[in-house]
Amino acid sequence: VQTIFVILMLGSVLVSSSAAEPRQLNLMPMPASVQLQTGQLVIDPSLTVGISGHTDVQLQRALERFLNNLRRQTGMTPLDMKVTSAAQAKLVVHCEHENKAVQELGEDESYSLEVSTAGAKLDAVTALGIMRGLETFLQLVQTTSDGFAVPAIAIHDKPRFPWRGLMIDVSRHFIPLDVLKRNLDGMAAVKLNVFHWHLSDNQGFRVESKKFPRLTEMGSDGLFYTQDEVRELIAYAHDRGIRVVPEFDMPGHSTAWFVGYPELASGPGPYEIERKWGVFDPAMDPTHERTYKFLDSFIGEMAQLFPDQYFHIGGDEVNGKQWDANPKIQAFMRAHGLKTNQDLQAYFNTRVQTIVSKHGKTMVGWDEILRPDLPKDIVVQSWRGQDSLAAATRQGYRGILSYGYYLDLNWPASRHYGVDPMSDGAANLTPEEKQRILGGEACMWSEYVAPENIDSRIWPRMAAIAERLWSPQNVTDVTSMYERLQNVSRWLDWLGLTHNSSYGPMLRRIAGSNDISALRTFADVVEPVKDYTREEIAAVEATSLSPLNRVIDAVRPESETARHFSDLVNALEANQGSSAQQEIRTLLTRWRDNQSNLQPLETQSFLLQEISPLSQDLSTVATIGLQALDYIDRGERAPEAWATEQFALLEQAQKPKAQLLLMIVPSVQKLVEASSGVKAPQLPPQK
Ligand code: ACM
Repeated sequence: VQTIFVILMLGSVLVSSSAAEPRQLNLMPMPASVQLQTGQLVIDPSLTVGISGHTDVQLQRALERFLNNLRRQTGMTPLDMKVTSAAQAKLVVHCEHENKAVQELGEDESYSLEVSTAGAKLDAVTALGIMRGLETFLQLVQTTSDGFAVPAIAIHDKPRFPWRGLMIDVSRHFIPLDVLKRNLDGMAAVKLNVFHWHLSDNQGFRVESKKFPRLTEMGSDGLFYTQDEVRELIAYAHDRGIRVVPEFDMPGHSTAWFVGYPELASGPGPYEIERKWGVFDPAMDPTHERTYKFLDSFIGEMAQLFPDQYFHIGGDEVNGKQWDANPKIQAFMRAHGLKTNQDLQAYFNTRVQTIVSKHGKTMVGWDEILRPDLPKDIVVQSWRGQDSLAAATRQGYRGILSYGYYLDLNWPASRHYGVDPMSDGAANLTPEEKQRILGGEACMWSEYVAPENIDSRIWPRMAAIAERLWSPQNVTDVTSMYERLQNVSRWLDWLGLTHNSSYGPMLRRIAGSNDISALRTFADVVEPVKDYTREEIAAVEATSLSPLNRVIDAVRPESETARHFSDLVNALEANQGSSAQQEIRTLLTRWRDNQSNLQPLETQSFLLQEISPLSQDLSTVATIGLQALDYIDRGERAPEAWATEQFALLEQAQKPKAQLLLMIVPSVQKLVEASSGVKAPQLPPQK
């Protein structure tokens, strides 16, 4: 067999399997080393898998899951697709030894996968590596003219960072176990290995405590996980090579604790579960011994329930107002030489760290906990800026990056993708300091997510962050990332994730109709406002009691259609031909005419009324685009006065309406520029 030499460089994955036909490998995250060869292994209904080395229950379950995923992905259900003896198997799996009983940070996840026309071999030191390799194999299965097939290939792969996580906030909106499970499946598919479970906040305490039952009896609205359910989720994650790190946020973000246990607070009660979003005053009393007695008992119980070595105590956003207002706390601070609230929180952290450590765990906290007096084994989670990560590692602490990976801010995947834990302040660290950067975590804060739309806020963008954390640092090609992301998105459907499948039903509910073609055309080109703008421009303050059934809740954080349109306009600008121009015209015509199709629906549904002005904008903007295209077609320069007028209209259309952004505006502005030769004033950023 002649090996075609392709080694993937710089994240480029358009590889040539023959001179004529470039072939896209849909791998994400991109492996460390890929050599494509000639030929392919056909995947037919008789595919068998065999184990040749160490075996155990976790490994066997991984293989069964692999076959099930393959069956789903290919629609081939035959029972003879099975685990068998190694000698006869098409895919032979060789694992050297078992994993740790409790998965540890930094365990070996490397693997090698060799596929030829005759069969495939997957080698790894541990079952973790096998699991990562099986996911790669699933991603390699392509639809070809000869059937489903995996290209002949040699892959040697290992992660860049040992801590690759997703945090889900289950406090602000409760997220049921089945929703978490399907997201764990998604995580495993893109080789993530830490599920950070944000279990308590002002809006709800979500884990049963047998020692302190009022935490959930009074602080959860009845929405919490029993300890059996917690164990079930941990086992589910463990099967997929994912650690579960619990977070109990303290001393702030803790109102829900105080509903049942007001004596923990620094101000007089009574307390109620918080319904609003934001930063609130209630905080634990760091000066009272009963606080530490409670935490010792509680953390002891939770340390038993959660086997992972790491235990997250939150520590973010303490506004100190209850401390300022409490004379006893003020007296304590004076008596102990604690000059600021930050000093008081550092005192609290030191006490809590002693408790966490006593129960055998290593403490993790948000970057506010960073103070030189804590022991060096703690881990700092950097969220307020990338510099805090560098600062932590310089002081001898280990850190993980979340700044830049907040999924709730509705950024495009490309923006997250551009954030590297080793860039910015970290670029100048010594090798030893760099060693302390463990990786990163995406964060899904849940003010505006419910079970039906959380997947669409996480996926597929999460996969781009997963690649940043797994793949070599030089894998940075955004075009390639987006091409692969679309494919990842499509096969995540087969894992049961609903980021695509819930879109139609949500739009049908909004329309109160099955005919959503006009609504979909509109929804496909808008995005929710970015950052924290949703709060800033809300007509009515949102709370945990607000329905999440509006257009903003259904539309995707990133419009694929608008991105495609932008690519077409860029191609046109670069003079790359008439096919782009034709497609631009088709799209603009559809958008121009959409308003008249959508209008009848708008009068029928209260959920559609708010989008009327933006739907009108879509029509206006598309009309401008078509006029610009006409000038370009005729080879005629558009008058400057006309261009100036259009720029003003576009600037209006750029502004959020119904908390939505019309994402085609910048591209239409480019068309007007191209047709007139007039440079447009800089549009304000779409936020
Ligand atoms: C945070 O976003 N308050 C950690």
